[in-house]
Amino acid sequence: MEDKNAFVKCFRNAAPYIHAHHGKTFVLQMSGDIVASAGCSNLIHDLALLNSLAIKLIVVFGARPQIDQLLKERKLKPAYCGALRVTDEASISSVTQAVGDVKIKIEALLSMGLPNSPMADSAIKVASGNYVTGRPYGILNGVDLKLTGRVRSIEKETINTRLGAGEIVLITPLGYSATGEIFNLSSIEVATQVAIDLAADKLIMFNSDQILQDENGETIRQITCAEAKKKLDADSPCSMDEIPTAFAQGIKACEAGVKRIHYIAQNTDGSLLQELFTLDGVGTLLTHTPFDTVRQAHVNDITGIYELIAPLDQNGILVQRSVAQIAMDIDNYVVLVRDGTVIACAVLHEYAEEKIMELACVAVHPDYQNQFMGEMLYQYIESQARATGAKEIIVLTTQTAHWFIERGFVETAINALPVEKQKAYNYQRNAKILLKSL
Ligand SMILES: CC(C)(COP(=O)(O)OP(=O)(O)OC[C@H]1O[C@@H](n2cnc3c(N)ncnc32)[C@H](O)[C@@H]1OP(=O)(O)O)[C@@H](O)C(=O)NCCC(=O)NCCS
Repeated sequence: MEDKNAFVKCFRNAAPYIHAHHGKTFVLQMSGDIVASAGCSNLIHDLALLNSLAIKLIVVFGARPQIDQLLKERKLKPAYCGALRVTDEASISSVTQAVGDVKIKIEALLSMGLPNSPMADSAIKVASGNYVTGRPYGILNGVDLKLTGRVRSIEKETINTRLGAGEIVLITPLGYSATGEIFNLSSIEVATQVAIDLAADKLIMFNSDQILQDENGETIRQITCAEAKKKLDADSPCSMDEIPTAFAQGIKACEAGVKRIHYIAQNTDGSLLQELFTLDGVGTLLTHTPFDTVRQAHVNDITGIYELIAPLDQNGILVQRSVAQIAMDIDNYVVLVRDGTVIACAVLHEYAEEKIMELACVAVHPDYQNQFMGEMLYQYIESQARATGAKEIIVLTTQTAHWFIERGFVETAINALPVEKQKAYNYQRNAKILLKSL
C-alpha cells in the first residue's frame, strides 16, 4: 500500500517536469567511462524513455578508456599533453575503431526490443553522420597535438531536421575536415558547441568524476555562472578555453545562452532521471541567474501559492484564502521560487498613511523548512518594506511568534495596529500582534 502511494506521489511530482521538458532540446555529453560502466544499459534505456517523452535528445559520447585499451592491445603508448591526448598517424586508427565500437554499442542498446527491456515495443530511431567539422588543435605548450582537434563548425540544420523527425541524434567525438582528415575531438567541447549552436535548453555533462564539490566534499547543488567563474579562476588559473574541461565549457555554454547546465555523476542507477524529474535533482546545476529567486508574485503563481498554503489553512496556522482571494491580491504577494516552483510565500499590505507594512501568510513548504528559506524570504520583505518608506512591520500570528521575535519583532497591543486593521481584528482567533520598527 505504502509502495503504491509512494509511486503515485512520485509520478504526480514528476508531472510538471514531464510537461516542462516536452519538445525541449537537451544535449547530453557522456564520458567513455560511463559507456564502459555496468550501469550503461540502464542509462541508454533512460535516454530512450526521454525520447518517448518528446524530448529532443542529442547524445555526444567520449571513448577515452576504450581508446587507451586499444592502444595498449596494439602496444602503442598513449601520449598526453596535460589532459589532452596527442593523436598521431599511428594512433588515429585506434581512435576511430574505439569510437566506432562505442557508437555501435549505444545504437544496439537503443534498438533493443527484448520483452524484458523497459522500452520494449518502442521504435527508437537513431541518426548520426558527418555533423561536426574539425580543425587541428595545433601546438600547446610547445607540443604538437597533431590529429587532436577542435570544433570548427556544426551542421545544425541537419541535426535539427533529424530531431524534428523524432530521432535521437548520436554524435561521435570525431571531426572531419574538407581536406579529408579525421580529428580526435573532446566530447565535452563537441557537446558544448552543439548546445550553443542549437540554442539547447539544457546541456547535461554526465561523467563519472566531474561533480562539483565544496570544501567539505559536499556536492554543490547549484551555482551561478559568476560564482562558477570565480571558482574556476581559483582552482585552475589557466585560460578558461585552453583545455576543454566540463566546468569551463559549461560556463562558456551558459554565457552563450544555454539556460541550464547540469553536472551529474553516474553513481546511482537512474541519476539522470532524478536530475531531470525531481525538484532538487542529484547533481550540480549551473545557471546564469540564481536557482532560488525571491520576487514579486505574478498571476502564474496563484495555483502554486494556493497549493502551498491550503494545508496550513486547514490546520488553523494561516487565515483561509481562496484561489479567487489570492488572485485579487496577487500584486501584494512575494514568492520564493525554486526552478519555477513556488516553495515559499508571504503577502504584504501597505498602510501608507501610518507608514506600516503588514506581513501575513508567511509559509515555507514543509519539505524546505529549516533551510533558511523563511529567512531569505523575510530579508527580501524587510528590504521591500524599507524601500516603500515603511517605519514598522506588523504581523499577527498564532503559532510562530518566536520565529518573528528572533528576527527583532516585539509583542505589542491592538492599538499599535492601523485603525482599519484594529476594526478587522478577529478576537476569536486571538493572534499575537508583533511589531518591528525599521
Ligand atoms: C515559520 C516558517 C515560515 C519558518 O521558515 P523556515 O524556512 O523553516 O525557517 P528558517 O530556516 O529561516 O529558520 C529556521 C529556524 O526557525 C525555527 N522555527 C521554525 N518554525 C518555528 C515556529 N513556528 N516558531 C518558532 N521558531 C520556529 C526553527 O526551529 C529554526 O530554528 P533553529 O535553527 O534554531 O532550530 C516555516 O516554518 C513555516 O512555513 N511554518 C508554517 C507556517 C507559519 O507558521 N507561518 C507563519 C504565519 S504568520
